[in-house]
Amino acid sequence: MHFHILTLFPEMVLTGLATSIIGRAQKDGFLTVDADNIRDYTTEKHGHVDDYPYGGGAGMLMQADPILRAYRAVCERTGTTPRVIYTSPAGRLFDQAAAKAFAKEEELVILCGHYEGVDERALELLHAESWSIGDYVLTGGELPAMVMVDAISRMVPGVLSNSESGETESFEGSLLEYPQYTRPEVYEGLRVPPVLLSGDHGKVDRWRRDQSLLRTMERRPDLFAKVEFTKADRKFLRTLEADPDLSE
Ligand code: ADE
Repeated sequence: MHFHILTLFPEMVLTGLATSIIGRAQKDGFLTVDADNIRDYTTEKHGHVDDYPYGGGAGMLMQADPILRAYRAVCERTGTTPRVIYTSPAGRLFDQAAAKAFAKEEELVILCGHYEGVDERALELLHAESWSIGDYVLTGGELPAMVMVDAISRMVPGVLSNSESGETESFEGSLLEYPQYTRPEVYEGLRVPPVLLSGDHGKVDRWRRDQSLLRTMERRPDLFAKVEFTKADRKFLRTLEADPDLSE
């Protein structure tokens, strides 16, 4: 899979994605990430890429032309017309399902927003899809682009080793991941839950599922509302109703 980031800060994106698992995946040939500096595509003599919004208002907007030129350079280089993600707090909420879906693309362009946004005509001409990484406002689209590249890349076959691609991750089946422990057995007086040392895999699985249910209920009622409960789940939830202290 090939990512092409259109940004005013290419070094930020390239450096951030050069290490750890995403860096390894690039070295191993599962991914490529390149970044074009939108400023390189301006024809304006002072190198400006932004201007005041028509109708007035705070801040500056990125102009359409350098963005279109940068995108067309990617198209020429790759011989393709990739889908475009535009990073924006006004976009759809980027989630695991979106990451999985984008991982099927061969080429993907991510346009990083800056200033107060971009001229809407650039988004229209690029058929850009606006995506947000959460309900907060960042100073630019580079961090969201890196977040999306990371989440999408994990879903590309070969990027994660078998041990890294645990099947029971948060959001699989709309449940958050259960708590985990490693050595030592007691740390600063805190014990590993005894069931995890019992060697009884059935019991361990049930405990983990119960913990996932609890966590999701407490932390993410929105996800909890979508869970398809099994009979055993219902039984556990009934014990909570009878003894609410269990959920503390
Ligand atoms: N740009 C600024 N804030 C953002 C957010 N939350 N998601 C995506 N892009 C952004």
